[in-house]
Amino acid sequence: MCRPEHFAVTYAINPWMDPAAGADAGRAVAQWEALRAAYLALGHEVSLIDPVEGLPDMVFAANGALVVGGRVYGARFAFPERYAEGPAYARWLRDNGFTDVLEPQYTNEGEGDFLTLDDVILAGTGFRTDIAAHQEAQEFLGRPVVTLRLVDPRFYHLDTALFPLGGRDVAYYPGAFSPGSRAVLERLFPHAVIAGERDAAVLGLNAVCDGRNVVVNAEAAGLIGALAERGYTPVPVDLSELRKAGGGPKCCTLELRPAP
Ligand code: ARG
Repeated sequence: MCRPEHFAVTYAINPWMDPAAGADAGRAVAQWEALRAAYLALGHEVSLIDPVEGLPDMVFAANGALVVGGRVYGARFAFPERYAEGPAYARWLRDNGFTDVLEPQYTNEGEGDFLTLDDVILAGTGFRTDIAAHQEAQEFLGRPVVTLRLVDPRFYHLDTALFPLGGRDVAYYPGAFSPGSRAVLERLFPHAVIAGERDAAVLGLNAVCDGRNVVVNAEAAGLIGALAERGYTPVPVDLSELRKAGGGPKCCTLELRPAP
């Protein structure tokens, strides 16, 4: 995770961002501290990368890389405002024992568009990540990568529209996907939790599940109810300040999956 000390909304690269309205870094830090505390209370280990001045979106650690089996598929950001984050995250990972790092040839925004399940990696395209990066990641990681096409600009990263419920199932908002990708999701995950527009519109799908607990935006009431009904334990958090940049709990979280 990356403390949002330099958080701000100074440019607009997704429809959530309004530079005229701005954002409050102090409030963002307080909300982010509560998210970190929630992970620690659940027994998860949290490592921190130093925030860099001039990179207001660096709090969204999910975009910094994709780490699977101890191998790091580096990020290559779509917009110049965020270019410098790719090397910063790659450097941190190298310095912290992840030496097998691929510098990507193709544009990809890390775990924003790559979500890892037991047998497949789901990969988004349409707004940020180049479909050629899906191939590149598959080849480097040796895991099947399934392409999903995003069609609604509010849900510009895969992790704004879908999250893994452990290693074998997912929750998602169908309206974010092309008809073909919706059919793929129905075939792969016939028992998925289907979220409605209202939960999606508060970034409820930008959640983190450890197999049992689901850290999720508190405003996503319908989704929280559906998860509880399935036997998951929702852990509601308020990240409303970070949502002004288009991010939620998952965006703030890069998962470090160690070598087997
Ligand atoms: N303002 C950031 C951007 O548009 C938000 C990134 C959110 N991260 C995520 N994993 N969806 O790039």
